[in-house]
Amino acid sequence: MILVAGGTGRLGTLVLNRLVDQGLAVRVLTRNPATAARPVSDQIEWTTGDVGDRDALGRAFKGVDTVVSAIHGFTGTGSNSPATVAATATPTSSTPPKP
Ligand SMILES: NC(=O)c1ccc[n+]([C@@H]2O[C@H](COP(=O)([O-])OP(=O)(O)OC[C@H]3O[C@@H](n4cnc5c(N)ncnc54)[C@H](OP(=O)(O)O)[C@@H]3O)[C@@H](O)[C@H]2O)c1
Repeated sequence: MILVAGGTGRLGTLVLNRLVDQGLAVRVLTRNPATAARPVSDQIEWTTGDVGDRDALGRAFKGVDTVVSAIHGFTGTGSNSPATVAATATPTSSTPPKP
């Protein structure tokens, strides 16, 4: 299982489609519950959470052997702003639970 964090974004969507085209199983992390409510297929499943939320990461990492991060928050606004990155950076400095 491959986790694509940021798999709903511009870059992440391109990566996600490439992985799916190769027949690989992918889990996508999103903060948006409406997005996470999309149908699960043989290849794509959704998980809700913020990258700064250790519990959410624990769920997201379960059974995952590869993580691709296409998360963006360097130049954006609102929920993709640098302030969001700064606010969420501290919890991820700890090692998340093993899958
Ligand atoms: N777009 C380009 O042309 C391009 C070119 C070269 C490099 N890049 C780099 O690629 C990366 C992604 O850029 P992008 O343009 O694809 O970004 P984007 O379209 O703005 O997408 C942002 C992504 O980050 C996720 N995200 C942001 N904050 C998050 C958080 N706290 N927790 C979990 N997920 C979070 C969003 O997920 P949700 O909103 O679903 O939660 C979304 O999937 C950046 O590092 C950028 O510098 C982009």
